[in-house]
Amino acid sequence: MKIVGILLGIVALVVILFVAYIQIKGVPHYPVEMTEQIKNLKVTVDSAHVAEGKRISSMLCRECHYSPETKKLTGSPRTDIPKEFGAINSLNITQDKTHGVGNWTDGELYYFLRTGIRPQTGEYVPPYMPKFPHVSDDDVHSIIAWLRSDDPELAADPHEYPPNQANFLVKLLCNIAFKPLPLPTGPITEPDTTDLVALGKYVADGVIGCYACHSADLKTLNDQDPPKTPGFYGGGTKMLDLDGVTEVATANITMDEETGIGKWTEQQFLEAVKYCKKPDGGLLHYPMAPHAALTDTEVKAIYAYLKTVPVIQNKVERFQASN
Ligand code: HEC
Ligand code: HEC
Repeated sequence: MKIVGILLGIVALVVILFVAYIQIKGVPHYPVEMTEQIKNLKVTVDSAHVAEGKRISSMLCRECHYSPETKKLTGSPRTDIPKEFGAINSLNITQDKTHGVGNWTDGELYYFLRTGIRPQTGEYVPPYMPKFPHVSDDDVHSIIAWLRSDDPELAADPHEYPPNQANFLVKLLCNIAFKPLPLPTGPITEPDTTDLVALGKYVADGVIGCYACHSADLKTLNDQDPPKTPGFYGGGTKMLDLDGVTEVATANITMDEETGIGKWTEQQFLEAVKYCKKPDGGLLHYPMAPHAALTDTEVKAIYAYLKTVPVIQNKVERFQASN
């Protein structure tokens, strides 16, 4: 009995020390290893890049960073993040030099979007801010060109939320599970747009990250190599509605005829992806968003790509509106 007691005491002590260590260590910092090329990056801010950046960011950034209060991208409370991660706000990405990103260099923005490491401090940014390892260099440059543009939603605005405080769970996960992404080792180019499957894969896996929501679990995403994500496109992840309580399961969008979209026509798919319209006439629920900024060719390309993704039989209990 005495020995058991001592052993339990030791275990308890180790646990306490570990908890204290994580609490004090916090979210890890990493060495900031920007190449000369990234340090000297100056994107071309011309109308073509700005327009393309605005189109992409309308699907990739705006939803999280837009504030209905200021009508600018000054950040907003992310009410759809599970409560156990704490109260998280997206931050100000307007051109304000103190509160926004007006003082970041193009290279710093590029480095941050690729790796998730804050270039000024080396601090890792937890997954509530996504990283973009597969978006082409040209598309990332377009996003940066847009951040520099005269889009009224990006005009300098000092409104800001205090920096997010990581709680124990976030600190723990960032120490044991979530890691920053390495810088790409070579140029990332867009696929030949006449190769529909390659284009669809690029848009779905690389740009929008449809798989991130439409796979088995947000905690087991493989950002580096998306097809290795468990339950790839088989759906079933339970996500939160904007009320932070209602759960909405993601759909199985593999081509399984019974539990997926194997019986959907390309046109039905297009209506769902671009306008959230269901074949029965209803609307798909948040967090599925209308991707109206995708071109018809891009959506058809995703459809062609999904036909090549291994079919998963997974019957998802779908969200039912209670009204
Ligand atoms: C899913 C929501 C979400 C999306 C999508 C998103 N962000 Fe963020 N972003 C956040 C959150 C939350 C933070 C705060 C992270 C933190 O606390 O460190 C953040 C932080 C940032 C920061 C750091 C700001 C600062 O002052 O420290 C920049 C820059 C940024 N995001 C740019 C972007 C861009 C550009 C895009 C699109 C390509 C984007 N974000 C997409 C949620 C999001
Ligand atoms: C932020 C998470 C999220 C992202 C990103 C996302 N979806 Fe969805 N999607 C959902 C959810 C949740 C549903 C189910 C909504 C419902 O049941 O009303 C859904 C439903 C669908 C449906 C309807 C399927 C059916 O059986 O009803 C299709 C098709 C679809 N998504 C395709 C896509 C494609 C293609 C992309 C990328 C361009 C994408 N989604 C990106 C969350 C997401």
